[in-house]
Amino acid sequence: ASGCKIGPSILNSDLASLGAECLRMLDSGADYLHLDVMDGTVSSLKAETVSLAHLCILCRKSTMASLNYNWLDEWLYHKGGISKESLLPLPALWQTLSLLRHFVPNITFGHPVVESLRKQLGQDPFFDMHMMVSRPEQWVKPMAVAGANQYTFHLEATENPGALIKDIRENGMKVGLAIKPGTTVEYLAPWANQIDMALVMTVEPGFGGQKFMEDMMPKVKEVFGSGVHWLRTQFPSLDIEVDGGVGPDTIHKCAEAGANMIVSGSAIMRSEDPRSVINLLRNVCSE
Ligand code: DX5
Ligand code: ZN
Repeated sequence: ASGCKIGPSILNSDLASLGAECLRMLDSGADYLHLDVMDGTVSSLKAETVSLAHLCILCRKSTMASLNYNWLDEWLYHKGGISKESLLPLPALWQTLSLLRHFVPNITFGHPVVESLRKQLGQDPFFDMHMMVSRPEQWVKPMAVAGANQYTFHLEATENPGALIKDIRENGMKVGLAIKPGTTVEYLAPWANQIDMALVMTVEPGFGGQKFMEDMMPKVKEVFGSGVHWLRTQFPSLDIEVDGGVGPDTIHKCAEAGANMIVSGSAIMRSEDPRSVINLLRNVCSE
């Protein structure tokens, strides 16, 4: 792709010197900074389960005074096809919700850190916020105020992408939409003409330094190979970002597929000479 941009992910940097690490990346020629925001525990349950469990808790809470949940159980049984036996007791439901509320099994930082980075680095650097969080709705304004330029949320983490896209724009940021390896691009496609960037994850979100997943599961190949290529063909002006395990060994595949925003964490951070890695990635990508 022409005009490829390289955005180091600072996840694997010395986080005690985050400001200095960001400066080091910018001084080494980084086009933008990819900032990974993560919120805690893993959830493998589906979105429908989240809504149902959430609903269940809210309803039970509101009926706690009467200590009679029977009507709710009846309702779930009839409307939701949920058997009474499978309903959890209240504490277990809360526990389930606390698990469901988080998107990845790791915690990094939030908008206060972004605000400090903005103060230290000045107005110029472009901050691409990769929001690996459940309920991404709640951080739009705080991130905008803190100085984020682009808000990249996960399709898997929200029930109303349209409203979120609108809110991000109203808060003056660009819109990025991310999909995990298990989510195919057909889910992203309906939103593609409303967003600035599509992020196709090439590892399961959560940690830096993982292996690029091209060969690990057939689904990923589909998502990564034809998926990126298909997106590029359908939406020529859309920014397409890849993230996870991207470095000198894997950049060719990203470039071939048509990605033009390249996130690279450990490959740049672990190098003695980050400038040459950034240049190499940009050159191969732009060929
Ligand atoms: C993974 C993060 C990535 C990660 C990239 O959940 O979203 O941004 O830090 O790091 P590498 O390039 O080391 O896979
Ligand atoms: Zn990321």
